[in-house]
Amino acid sequence: METEKNGEFDWKVRVFDTLSFPTLILKPDGAILSVNVSFIKRYGIPKEQVMGRYCHDFFYQSSYSCPLDVCPLAAVLQSGEGQTILSHVASGDGEEKWEDRVFSPILDDEGHVRYIIESIRDVTRVKTMEKELSELRGFLEKAIQVSTSAIVAADMKGNILVMNRAAEEITGYTLREAKEKITARELHTPGQAEEIMKKLRDSEIGGKGRLPCTQVNFLNSRGESIPVELSAAIIYEGEEELATMGIFNDMRDKLAQEERMRQMMARVAQAEKMASLGQLAAGVAHEINNPLTGILLYASLAFEGMEDDDPRKDDLKYVIEDANRCKGIVRNLLAYSRQTLPDKETVEMNDLVEQSLRLIRDQRLFMRVEVVKELSERNMLIHADKNQLSQVFINLIINAIDAMNREGTLTLRTYPSEDGHDACFEVSDTGCGISEENVMKIFDPFFTTKEIGKGTGLGLSTAYGIVRDNEGIIRVKETGKKGTTFLVTLPIYDSSETEII
Ligand SMILES: Nc1ncnc2c1ncn2[C@@H]1O[C@H](COP(=O)(O)OP(=O)(O)OP(=O)(O)O)[C@@H](O)[C@H]1O
Ligand SMILES: [Mg+2]
Repeated sequence: METEKNGEFDWKVRVFDTLSFPTLILKPDGAILSVNVSFIKRYGIPKEQVMGRYCHDFFYQSSYSCPLDVCPLAAVLQSGEGQTILSHVASGDGEEKWEDRVFSPILDDEGHVRYIIESIRDVTRVKTMEKELSELRGFLEKAIQVSTSAIVAADMKGNILVMNRAAEEITGYTLREAKEKITARELHTPGQAEEIMKKLRDSEIGGKGRLPCTQVNFLNSRGESIPVELSAAIIYEGEEELATMGIFNDMRDKLAQEERMRQMMARVAQAEKMASLGQLAAGVAHEINNPLTGILLYASLAFEGMEDDDPRKDDLKYVIEDANRCKGIVRNLLAYSRQTLPDKETVEMNDLVEQSLRLIRDQRLFMRVEVVKELSERNMLIHADKNQLSQVFINLIINAIDAMNREGTLTLRTYPSEDGHDACFEVSDTGCGISEENVMKIFDPFFTTKEIGKGTGLGLSTAYGIVRDNEGIIRVKETGKKGTTFLVTLPIYDSSETEII
């Protein structure tokens, strides 16, 4: 028997055929000396049709040997060491296959390469899995990149591993900068990263390793604090914490929109309140106006009909003075409740300010007040009732002087709004400021903090009505311990025909 040598089983004879990989023995010139059983099974050709053929002929149907720089056989002969190549082959049924072909030299006693043993391993499964994995990886990367939510992942030391485009935009760092310059901790305000990790590990909050949506502030590359809505998770490998991941959205637009909405609601509520108070005020004013006119008329007649030395004349003078004061109040109430229509003309804002200042007759008011004027260099025309607006400006100026107890700095400022559509007028004082509670009430008719007899509380409510009727806005721009600034904005009148005098 072939396998029996000196009465013993010669295993060496069987080794070649036992190899599960298709294997062939090549001569140094590439001629095929032998192939094993697996080879015959794999290629389905009888052994005789393979033996003696050259490898390039068998594998590539070429009568020429392969170029030296790609021929592994040549490399084995030259180096005396094994070589491996990966080849992509199309099998007969049109399926793609990947083969790892390992070339190992068989050396003689002098170390010369006598034969080369080549074994062919089918690595199609591994290769297909590798390809699928890399495709999946590419797909996941794209999905992360296109996400409109910002995504950041970091290892447990805080080294940033992943950062998508949305995250780059919010943080102001590119992924490369983030990897080189910062750790995830630097994206947080002091102490925040620790707090988030504590919550993440707390199984009571969102489950272990998960943090449901919470609002936090992130710091961008310029150190600005950005409000974001964050949900985070710990990535585990078994029980071990591998990395953390955060998904977050910029809240700035949403918060600004909410703030705008809140302000709009507050303005609507204020306007509604003013409208109903206006109706009431108009009704009262109307009812009082007629009897007042009668009182004034008859008191004046009686006054004139009296002798000069009549002792009752002084009393009547008081009656007439107080009745006139009441008339003033009624007039203001009517102005506030829009009962008197504005008589509009084109006026220049700075002129109006100067004119209002001149109209404050009692100059003693200003004795210890420094008046600073910062008037716009640009002429700003407005289409408004000059007298009514003067009344508004005077009211604001007198309020400012009162608030400073007639001592301090009064600044009058005019300037165009940023978009150029409005003319702005500001009155700033260095007075006592308005408490948060009172800011809500100052435009209400009859709201005053002044002593009885000193203020009627109609100045600002009247101003509110007038400015609104002239398509403008009046509001407290700023108030605090250092003083108060009132701002009036009125639309700039755009008329190419009107010349500024
Ligand atoms: N510049 C200001 N600084 C601080 N408080 C102010 C200022 N302007 C107005 N106020 C507050 O608003 C209240 C209402 O002002 P408003 O002009 O309507 O009435 P008044 O000044 O009290 O009385 P009137 O103007 O009718 O004589 C004032 O009593 C004061 O408390
Ligand atoms: Mg006032």
